Amino acid sequence: MTDKPVVLVTRKLPDAVEKKLAQDFTPVLNPDDRLYDTEELLQLAENADAILPCHTERFSAETIARLPARVKAIANFSVGVDHVDLEAARQKQVIVTNTPDVLSDATAEIAMLLMLGAARRASEGERIMRNQQWKDWSPAFMVGRQITGKRLGILGMGRVGQVVAARARGFDMTIHYHNRKPLDASQAAGAEYHDSVEGLLAAIDVLSIHCPASDATRGLLNRERLALMHPDSILVNTSRGAVVDDDALVNALISGVIAAAGLDVYNGEPDAIHPGYRELDNVFLLPHIGSATVETRDAMGFRAIDNLIAIFKGEQPGDRVA
Ligand code: DGY
Repeated sequence: MTDKPVVLVTRKLPDAVEKKLAQDFTPVLNPDDRLYDTEELLQLAENADAILPCHTERFSAETIARLPARVKAIANFSVGVDHVDLEAARQKQVIVTNTPDVLSDATAEIAMLLMLGAARRASEGERIMRNQQWKDWSPAFMVGRQITGKRLGILGMGRVGQVVAARARGFDMTIHYHNRKPLDASQAAGAEYHDSVEGLLAAIDVLSIHCPASDATRGLLNRERLALMHPDSILVNTSRGAVVDDDALVNALISGVIAAAGLDVYNGEPDAIHPGYRELDNVFLLPHIGSATVETRDAMGFRAIDNLIAIFKGEQPGDRVA
């Protein structure tokens, strides 16, 4: 590459990633990590050959149609691509990539943390400690549920789901899952396949959501499906808020349809999440930090750079999604 292609980087990336990007590209960085609105993004894109965004920037069909012809690729710093209208990108011949695999371990850690936090009432315990409300120990104090030996249902047994299953086996959990198709035996590693979401929900104690947000999964966890779960069960979500109907989940948590939830992702995040969640003691809440480790954030950036390098060499990028 002689003239280095210009890459518009929409958010502050790890230093090591920004340094590596500058080896092959001319990066336009965002050192203050300001969230650009669409107009600003389109304006900055005028001088860019590619964009390296996060899931915080939305590329609707309209936005993609307005991208300058010069922009050849959207190389996401994310595994999820629900913020990009992939069909619109295909039509405009803008290449879109993501960063799979490298965040599976970090996300699986957060799924386990959510399970444990929800089961063992971690939010309540923390609040009691921080507010100096701890008055006594008693056999009835802060009694939660155990996840050891329970039945874990994985909705979407892809890369992250399979790592969660492996971690959960360390807690002697038995693994159940639903995918469109069963996995081959080596990937399933003994996990029991359910050919319907409904069948899965009725068979488990803990549900961990790992399917992407799409037209097929939006609002999947609705009132009717939540009602199929056991009243002692726990729901955790590290995928996308859109898979859950918030009114239905908040009502299920209030009325005892299920026992508890652990959430890292939300509809309307970050500032317009369902207010009901904040009111409830039986919800353990985290602010979308599934991939937030030094190791993973570096790896996501390096993977996005590898995709860009392939694109500008005229090769097929490893993680092309459109
Ligand atoms: C992802 O990569 O999709 C994570 O949710 C962070 O964007």
